Amino acid sequence: MNILLIGSGGREHAFAWKLSQSPLCDELYIAPGNAGTSRHGTNIQIAETDFPALGHFCLDHSIDMVLVGPETPLVAGVYDYFTKDVKLKDIPVIGPSAKGAQLEGSKAFSKAFMKKYNIPTADYLEVTSDNLEEAINYIARQTPPIVLKADGLAAGKGVLICTTIAEAQAELREMLRGKFGSASSKVVIEEFMEGIEFSVFVLTDGKSYKILPEAKDYKRIGEGDTGLNTGGMGAISPVPFVTPALMQAVERNIIRPSIEGLKAEGIVYKGFLYIGLMHDVPANVTRVVEYNCRMGDPETEVVIPRIENDLVKLLQAVGREELHKEVLHITEKSAVTVILAAGGYPGAYEKEKVIEGAEEISGNMVFHAGTKRNERGQVLTNGGRVMAITSLADDMDSAIKQSIQAAEKIQFEGKYFRRDIGFDLK
Ligand code: AMP
Ligand code: GLY
Repeated sequence: MNILLIGSGGREHAFAWKLSQSPLCDELYIAPGNAGTSRHGTNIQIAETDFPALGHFCLDHSIDMVLVGPETPLVAGVYDYFTKDVKLKDIPVIGPSAKGAQLEGSKAFSKAFMKKYNIPTADYLEVTSDNLEEAINYIARQTPPIVLKADGLAAGKGVLICTTIAEAQAELREMLRGKFGSASSKVVIEEFMEGIEFSVFVLTDGKSYKILPEAKDYKRIGEGDTGLNTGGMGAISPVPFVTPALMQAVERNIIRPSIEGLKAEGIVYKGFLYIGLMHDVPANVTRVVEYNCRMGDPETEVVIPRIENDLVKLLQAVGREELHKEVLHITEKSAVTVILAAGGYPGAYEKEKVIEGAEEISGNMVFHAGTKRNERGQVLTNGGRVMAITSLADDMDSAIKQSIQAAEKIQFEGKYFRRDIGFDLK
């Protein structure tokens, strides 16, 4: 079959790598892809939200399945665009409908969903300029820290953790005035949850689901989890503190009610659901921090290498609503990924630095994130997160060592990476 994969990050390189290993995969196209995805298929220069162009491409190239990597096209309704078009409707799109993608696209929607289906999460208040006074009084009654979240997509930047009541009240006013553009015309005020974070990933066809390997990502730029938030500087899977008993509780209290809730709402959801969790160790309580309507990045770069199944076959089963017939095979090995970032990221950074040494790496998976190839065939940096170096080993420590050794061998001006991925779990 011919497959179109939408996206251009490390997540999409990991998907392309895995899809291309399937005997079921004939042609793989990636829109727009990066210098890494082009090793497993053909990059096509169509923007991820240009649905008419993507639709035409699918018809012209006999595409049999579309896999959507990032949230933007999902929230913008790529699933609905295909299903409403007579010529495109029979091409399965792996990813939720626009309504399902609201679990990520609107924090207010996801909080109301969790409340309705008794899914444990932080207490909250939804605010617009209409109930600002109520919100100011609500904040005054809280014990800091107080969490403010822009309702809409804000490229991972829409969450503020305020340490005083006055700061939270001032920030709330700023947000409603457009600090994050239209994304913050609505705001969710949340109770701060203590604990350690991890993420679970679910593949669903809307009827049944499979729980994929869990992961933990490292969001801060600095070692010891310090400094600014990033898209993620590394990830590990499995997560040592996530015992089978903890996973069973998460399935019972969070995963199953989420899938059942989507069904009860009549929301079409055939794709990946990423659930960010906060685990309070002393209380042994796990609550939802957020939903995402897609796989994580860099979590995909540790989750996908642990899945031994043919991914095309799994996704086909999702499209046919026959996922219950599949059996997942997960390796017990540990996967670790370390992100090589451009100097300055997540602030201003330069692009188009020549990358050397990546092609010579063997024994690790080098997933490209922000890269492109120039006319001379050289690989250049093309984003803040440049590459994800994944290793699979018998234990987490060995995988960390292997990724760091490879990270040292790849060179580009300004290269930065964290050497302490997994530090809190040893
Ligand atoms: P989100 O975009 O909702 O994932 O939030 C980004 C990050 O902010 C999360 O990964 C957490 O580290 C932190 N965060 C969000 N909500 C809360 C909360 N209610 N309590 C504590 N930390 C939070
Ligand atoms: N690594 C966080 C995310 O993909 O949202």
